[in-house]
Amino acid sequence: MQNSARINAKITSVGHYVPDFVIDNKFFEGILDTSDEWITERTGIKERRWLTADKPTSFMAEKAIKQVLENRGIGPEDIDMIIVGTVTPDMIYPSTACLLQEKIGAKNIWGFDILAACSGFIFALINGVQFIQSGNFKKVLVVGADKMSAILNIQDRNSAILFGDAAGAVLLEPEEDKNEGILDWIMNIDGSGAKNLFQLGGGSLHPASHQTVDDRMHFVYQEGRTVFKDAVKGMADVSYDILEENNLKGKDVAWLVPHQANHRIITATAERMGLSMDKVMVNINKYGNTTAGTIPTCISEYWQAGKVNKGDYLVLSSFGAGYTWGSVLLKWSY
Ligand code: COA
Repeated sequence: MQNSARINAKITSVGHYVPDFVIDNKFFEGILDTSDEWITERTGIKERRWLTADKPTSFMAEKAIKQVLENRGIGPEDIDMIIVGTVTPDMIYPSTACLLQEKIGAKNIWGFDILAACSGFIFALINGVQFIQSGNFKKVLVVGADKMSAILNIQDRNSAILFGDAAGAVLLEPEEDKNEGILDWIMNIDGSGAKNLFQLGGGSLHPASHQTVDDRMHFVYQEGRTVFKDAVKGMADVSYDILEENNLKGKDVAWLVPHQANHRIITATAERMGLSMDKVMVNINKYGNTTAGTIPTCISEYWQAGKVNKGDYLVLSSFGAGYTWGSVLLKWSY
């Protein structure tokens, strides 16, 4: 949907946090019928970070936000709104946005959580853009954070090896130049994919009980092969379409920032866009799939390394449970 509003939104700061505790592939060799070689070859993951059991998602999000504020040279009193993409909130309610407002000491703000799994960050981002475009909000924090280690079935080799914990955040602010900042987006949902990737227990359909715990219903469940095929098509299509709609070619793009679910999905998306892999942000090898955390964590790391420059076109793309998927085209502004 091309931007017809008077005001654009742009990213003016980034930050991220990953836990210190590293789990390498060898760890799984000790508990599952798997190998470092299989995991590396089939997923691109070498290691991931897990947060300690006593700390929640908001612990990582708070650290990412503090970096955002520090990098921008502002304080919590300057923030108007917090939007959090997560599937691992600290608790079912209150929202992680509320908990973060209190933690960072922001005052008189609004905010909420968005549930879009691996697309959580880009869905939250485009929500934030709407509030900036309304003209009523000047500084919107957008967070993608997940503690996937809290919902992993460690006995399931199909899913346990894939996920890690991380948080990333950005600040959105108004931009008057229509050719700067967030330029375009395509967002999709399709509930026919719900049966392939879910966490059944704990909702109103299957409230927590001894039975739901015994049946391991509070963990991630994924039909890996089906999701893989759907993700390759969904993410590659939407990434290609956003270029087409904006009369851009792969050569115009400085960075593809793909959701980090599987290295083979990332490669397929880059190929479809006509991009070489040196224009693709990748950190799946270090962190695995951190769900809503992957995209902002990538941007923050690459920005900190001095690899993202003013004027760069970035394409952010994701595919996740729901299904949810989409792409964002933006021009980096600082
Ligand atoms: N170690 C060793 N073998 C494994 C394994 C593991 N950790 N996980 C699965 N296998 C086995 C399977 O049991 C299967 O064995 P079988 O042929 O005897 O039945 C075989 O490897 C092939 O399984 P398959 O599921 O076809 O593997 P794959 O190449 O598709 O890789 C995933 C599995 C999960 C890595 C891959 O499907 C994937 O990345 N899926 C999508 C993830 C995603 O995008 N999620 C959306 C956002 S979260």
